[in-house]
Amino acid sequence: MPITVHAVRSVPKAATASLALVTSEAVSFGVDGFDAAVLEAVGFEGKADQVHLQPAEGGFTGLVGLGPAAEVTEATVRRAGAVLARSCSRHARAAAGLPVDVSVPAAEARRALAEGVILGGYRYTAFKSSAGEDGGDSSRRLDRVDVVGSASAGAKDAVARGAAVAAGVCVARDLANEPGGSLTAPAFAEKTEAVAREAGLESKVWTTEDIEAASLGGLLGVNRGSTHPPRFVELTYEPEGTPTATLAYVGKGITFDAGGLSIKTAQGMMAMKMDMCGAAAIIGAMSVLPAVGAPVRVKAYLPMTDNMLGGDATRPGDVLTIRNGKTIEVLNTDAEGRLILADALSLACEDEPDAIIDLATLTGACMVALGPSIAGLMGNDEPFVDQVRAAADRAGERVWHLPLPADYVKQFESSVADIKNIGGPHGGALTAGLILKEFVDDDIPWVHLDIAGPARAESDDGEITKGGTGFGVRTLVELALGYTRPAPG
Ligand code: BES
Ligand code: MN
Ligand code: ZN
Repeated sequence: MPITVHAVRSVPKAATASLALVTSEAVSFGVDGFDAAVLEAVGFEGKADQVHLQPAEGGFTGLVGLGPAAEVTEATVRRAGAVLARSCSRHARAAAGLPVDVSVPAAEARRALAEGVILGGYRYTAFKSSAGEDGGDSSRRLDRVDVVGSASAGAKDAVARGAAVAAGVCVARDLANEPGGSLTAPAFAEKTEAVAREAGLESKVWTTEDIEAASLGGLLGVNRGSTHPPRFVELTYEPEGTPTATLAYVGKGITFDAGGLSIKTAQGMMAMKMDMCGAAAIIGAMSVLPAVGAPVRVKAYLPMTDNMLGGDATRPGDVLTIRNGKTIEVLNTDAEGRLILADALSLACEDEPDAIIDLATLTGACMVALGPSIAGLMGNDEPFVDQVRAAADRAGERVWHLPLPADYVKQFESSVADIKNIGGPHGGALTAGLILKEFVDDDIPWVHLDIAGPARAESDDGEITKGGTGFGVRTLVELALGYTRPAPG
């Protein structure tokens, strides 16, 4: 269970750990209750990520550094919240004090702190035989953090918003971290339905027959090597009142990517249970929309299957017909994400939304280009690209705009079908984006986020935890909250 966070007036007696977030200036001027000579002796200067703890009656008190006041942003506070949660993970209940000498508005600081605490305290324990009691990595006794300073409606609302978004990120992380043999497409669809029910979203699960009837040739082609049937899940969020716009969220849901007959290496397969992180981020984000009261209608399109090597698996050279009638020659079965997304994007376009965003762990090439922590952002419409980029900035998720060069389309010309499913040896993130673009109507603003890098982390770092990160949830929630339709004309 995620840590619960509450806004309270003063430090509760039951909190056996009490930590305050402090800037380096605050430390140099002196902090009440902490001996300046002791802080100096242990080298605590209030730098970002620095922690100082000292025993107190029944537990401890402490300080978490933020660095120079002028540099403190929401992201700094979120990060410090995560550091705080890790520092008191052995205490059931902790209190957190906000800094007083920073320019981040109090509501934003409370929201970011709540987010950081919950995200930093996240653990995946589903497969631990003695979760929380073994004293090992998975141990966390902390289940409640009180943000001290005010219990006003505004303070409570700010904390609740941060907690709601963080809970959505945890939904995505849990799905990402579940093994591929456990989270098959049918299991994934069932879990998605359960999330939808709990959050108050409409959901519809398509079975093999529905998928065949709808001619989702990409999804069926990728599924052909599997013993588990595919699923296609639609989720709908309807706001109260008239929606200000309709957005389509499309997510890659490959529950395990062995590469198909173009099989991956042992090394290349190790993290491939996470090839459904695009879909997971969308499910996590959708689960938050009712709680934060997003004003737009959002419909999600989630194709789900694994990419295996059964006796009748799609062979290199096979041709698939996508939902919209276009044909693709499959020359590398490991380039499967674009095949299932082609169907999903075609379906999304049929519903004529105001804009489409897709999230996919699509290419290793994007990780080569941008490294492990930054998503590649591509699109067909500058204003919408800018809106998504701004949403990601507000959310504290890192994205970088990459081009979709029209002349690179040549690289996936096919002699037998409309296109082939791979480009040349270089610029693989861009050719993958261009192949997706083939299935999007030119007059619908569309953005593609290649999250192959940031969907997964090698180690804990601030609010990021090792394993599935839930990258994209925060951006998608921000986008739904702040989306503005372009002025007509
Ligand atoms: N799921 C992978 C991309 C990936 C790689 C995600 C590493 C996360 C980490 C995708 O399906 C894939 O295999 N892409 C191929 C495409 C190639 C065959 C054109 C790749 O990137 O090598
Ligand atoms: Mn693949
Ligand atoms: Zn894949």
